[in-house]
Amino acid sequence: MKTVLITGATSGIGQQMALDYAKDGWKVIACGRNQQKLAELSSNDNIDSSQFDLTDAERIAEIGRDHSQALDLVILNAGTCEYIDDVMAFDTDLFRRVINSNVIGTADCAGAFIPHIKTGGQLAFVGSSASFLPFNRAEAYGASKAAIAYLAQSIAVDLAPHNIDVSLVSPGFVTTPLTDKNDFEMPMKISVKQASEEIRRGLSKRKKHIKTPRLFTSILGLLGQLPHSIQHWIALRMVKS
Ligand SMILES: NC(=O)c1ccc[n+]([C@@H]2O[C@H](COP(=O)([O-])OP(=O)(O)OC[C@H]3O[C@@H](n4cnc5c(N)ncnc54)[C@H](OP(=O)(O)O)[C@@H]3O)[C@@H](O)[C@H]2O)c1
Repeated sequence: MKTVLITGATSGIGQQMALDYAKDGWKVIACGRNQQKLAELSSNDNIDSSQFDLTDAERIAEIGRDHSQALDLVILNAGTCEYIDDVMAFDTDLFRRVINSNVIGTADCAGAFIPHIKTGGQLAFVGSSASFLPFNRAEAYGASKAAIAYLAQSIAVDLAPHNIDVSLVSPGFVTTPLTDKNDFEMPMKISVKQASEEIRRGLSKRKKHIKTPRLFTSILGLLGQLPHSIQHWIALRMVKS
């Protein structure tokens, strides 16, 4: 039986992946803050749970120290999204909150769980295709996901000699409580079921970069290759439309 640890397993993409891996016969360690959701998940024979807040570095380190199970796969998926609504009153507390959860908290989880990944195992980071282009109001979220993308690519180089493969997952829009809060149009939005299926397929092939849905993330990826002046023009047009 293979073992996967998933952060952010109490909602959205992470919850769907936890249920799907458990159904496929994996032992799942589901992580999150929501105790009720964790208890519900743990009623499944194949799912154990671990409760912690991404911003509690001491607790994450303690969980890492106490952890005894060898892991085939670790998916660092937990994250939050908040937008800067008034750039002239740039909310540094908001910026700090998002970076602390999405970047520092994810790095703390990497520090705690990498020592438990088996030789030949895998580590995945969930970033976002939002970091491909400079979207307005996304200063904090986009910056946090750009950091995750770099972290994933860099750590992949250092983990290669340890025979641990690293994947970066860059979703487009997926229907979850996180996107339910958005008040703007979300083209080519997919279900958590589709996202989970495509992410799990990519991970089984040990793909370095898993982008889902493919068409939307490919378009964003291509636009992200353009000169910054053109990206800026496109981003301004999106604000005005
Ligand atoms: N949905 C999309 O369209 C989309 C697109 C691109 C990237 N992503 C990324 O995909 C990941 C999952 O997003 P989602 O859409 O599935 O969101 P979601 O439904 O809001 O789920 C977020 C998960 O992260 C956990 N989490 C958030 N802050 C936490 C904290 N401080 N400590 C511990 N756990 C925390 C939540 O746990 P609790 O509920 O227990 O607090 C929850 O399980 C995120 O990294 C997100 O940025 C999503």
